[in-house]
Amino acid sequence: MGIKVLGISSSPRIGGNSDTLLRRALEGAEAAGAQTEYIRLTDYNIGPCIECNACYSTGKCIIEDDYQQILEKIINTDRLIFATPIFFMTVCAQAKMLIDRGQCLWAYKYVLKKQLFNPKRDRRAMIIAVGGSKGVKQFDSIRRTMKVYFDCLDMHYFGGLFVNQVDNRGDIKKHPSALEEAYRLGTALSDPNIPAPDKPDDVELI
Ligand SMILES: Cc1cc2nc3c(=O)[nH]c(=O)nc-3n(C[C@H](O)[C@H](O)[C@H](O)COP(=O)(O)O)c2cc1C
Repeated sequence: MGIKVLGISSSPRIGGNSDTLLRRALEGAEAAGAQTEYIRLTDYNIGPCIECNACYSTGKCIIEDDYQQILEKIINTDRLIFATPIFFMTVCAQAKMLIDRGQCLWAYKYVLKKQLFNPKRDRRAMIIAVGGSKGVKQFDSIRRTMKVYFDCLDMHYFGGLFVNQVDNRGDIKKHPSALEEAYRLGTALSDPNIPAPDKPDDVELI
C-alpha cells in the first residue's frame, strides 16, 4: 500500500479554482501510487479558536465540534496538500479557522515540550493558492502562515503552487500549465523515493 495523502480544500466555492487544482494534484498523487483522501472544510463544522488557553495545560482543544475528526486525519497522513483561495492577501476564513485550532498542537510542542508525531516519520506538505489579482505579496503572506502551521504538524514544507489572475469559478480550466504543475507537484510530493528537497519546490504562475 502506498503512502497516505490528504487533500484539504478550504474554498467555500464548489468547483472553484483552488479546489480544481487540488483534485488534479491528488490525481498526480494517485499516479505515484499514493492512497488519497479529499475533504472539503465546508462539509465540517469547525469554529474559531476562542483563546481559552486550556490546551496550554493538556495539549488538547476543548471545543466540541468536527475539529477532532480532521485532526485525526491530519495526524494519520504522510502528506498534506492544503488548497486555499487568496482572500484579502491571505488564506480564506475556513482555512484560518482550522489553522488557528492548531494552537493545541503548538502548545503540545512548544509549551508542554512533548512529541506528538514520530520524528522518524517522513511527513511533507504543500500549498495550493489561487488569487484573482496581479498582486504577488499575498503569496509571501500565505507561505508564512502555512509554514508555521506545517511546523506545528511536524511536516516538512515541500513546496507550493501559487497562481494569480484567475478569478471566476472554473477559470483555472483555461490555465493548462497550472493544471500540469498541480499534477506534477502532487506526484513529486507523493513519491517516497524522492528525498525531501532542501529548497521548496515553489511554482509561481503570475
Ligand atoms: C472575500 C474575497 C477576498 C478576495 N481577496 C483577494 C485578494 O486579496 N487577492 C487576490 O488576488 N484575489 C482575491 N480574491 C479573489 C479570489 O482569490 C479568486 O476569485 C480565486 O480564484 C478564488 O478561488 P476559489 O475559486 O478556489 O475559491 C478575493 C475573493 C473574495 C471572495
